[in-house]
Amino acid sequence: MERFEIVGGQKLYGEVGISGAKNSVLPLIAASILSEGKTHIRNCPKIYDVEVMTEIIKSLGGKAYFDGNTLILDTADLNGSELPEKLTGQIRASLFTVGPLLTRFGKAAMCLPGGCNIGKRPIDIHVAALREIGVGVTYGEYTTFRRYELEGKRVVLRFPSVGATENLMMASVKSRGITYIVNCAKEPEIIDLQNYLNLIGAKISGAGTDVITVEGVEKLYSAEVEFTPSPDRIEAGTFIFLGAACGGELEFSVPSLRNSLFIAKIVGNNACKIIQKDDKIYILKFIRPKKGFGKIVTAPYPGFPTDLQPQLVACASVADGMTVVEDSVFPERFGYVKELKKTGADLSVYANACVAVGRKTIAGACMSAADLRGGAAMVIAALAAEGKSIVGGIGHIDRGYDRIDEKLRKIGAKVARIEI
Ligand code: EPZ
Repeated sequence: MERFEIVGGQKLYGEVGISGAKNSVLPLIAASILSEGKTHIRNCPKIYDVEVMTEIIKSLGGKAYFDGNTLILDTADLNGSELPEKLTGQIRASLFTVGPLLTRFGKAAMCLPGGCNIGKRPIDIHVAALREIGVGVTYGEYTTFRRYELEGKRVVLRFPSVGATENLMMASVKSRGITYIVNCAKEPEIIDLQNYLNLIGAKISGAGTDVITVEGVEKLYSAEVEFTPSPDRIEAGTFIFLGAACGGELEFSVPSLRNSLFIAKIVGNNACKIIQKDDKIYILKFIRPKKGFGKIVTAPYPGFPTDLQPQLVACASVADGMTVVEDSVFPERFGYVKELKKTGADLSVYANACVAVGRKTIAGACMSAADLRGGAAMVIAALAAEGKSIVGGIGHIDRGYDRIDEKLRKIGAKVARIEI
């Protein structure tokens, strides 16, 4: 078991290295099942969820190994379509292998997937969409999927589910005719998946809009492909809220962040100034938030991301005013608040919202993470607090952040990873 020992109160300065997006590389690893060749995923974060996904690829007969920061996947000899429960039950992304297994082998079988402890994680949207295109599903604790002749269809998702959009894209690449995925998710990670699938011979367009079009093809290529996923906007956002909470000056080379909604929230609140260094790099010069962030409601992309909701609350704990954060995507995603309150933060949870009344100072405390982004919020609070904090349960943080303590020390944070 490990924990972070943190001493707060420092301003933070320096360049933040951002890894490839976790929520891009996980579906990309699943998508590599469709390629009967080698896939190189560059700038791939070395995180626990990637490790589990590579174990799934190996359990199906494939090879997966890192060469530096590049993950190499060889799925030429894949020979199975049943997923081992001890792996699928650990992460949500195991579910994203169903689409590619159906396309390649005509069937898939798995126990219900795991995932962060942030509320209910049903799979009904996935099941309904797959049935719509002709997949037979026996839905239960152990769920089996079988592909009959897949017809291209117009499928309307009842909610723009990220995973269901990705599963349907991969399940329909060889359908007869054209499949339209309407009310699909529009996250940048969906565009990454479209670009990778087209690299191996699929014909997909529309990712990033409300309708994705998948034109069925006879065959995919089995060439060796290299792919660089987008930088992780949620990791970058985590460091931006950290900077706003602690003060200082952080440098990012993530151009796509420039126009993101949460940057606008931070800049709008006068919590930072953006200094353009050149076309790629810019510096955020932080001053403690002048006022609270007002009311923010999370929403599917391009709305405010639910995956930054806990980090915003941690930052709002030391703003000079009130912030109300409502999570419309995962209404129960506030389990971390009781831990943050140990720092003296003035936080109250009502139904699917948290009210934060900012304080000039909060105090170090002993906290324990129970999910990935809630754990990140505890690290932010500990670094903004006066004095020493302990953050336990950091295995949850390591699921989605690649050596976050090393990146934090590089910008002057006092964080030690202690074996207990
Ligand atoms: C992806 O999860 C991300 N995970 C999550 O990131 C992210 O929070 C989420 O999208 C929303 O952006 C990965 O990409 C590996 P959804 P996913 O299907 O696909 C409900 C993180 O912190 N729903 O878009 O599982 C669901 O309960 C993680 O990096 C159904 O009701 O999310 C939720 O309320 C956490 N039935 C909403 O839709 C379904 O069949 C959004 O879920 C599927 C989803």
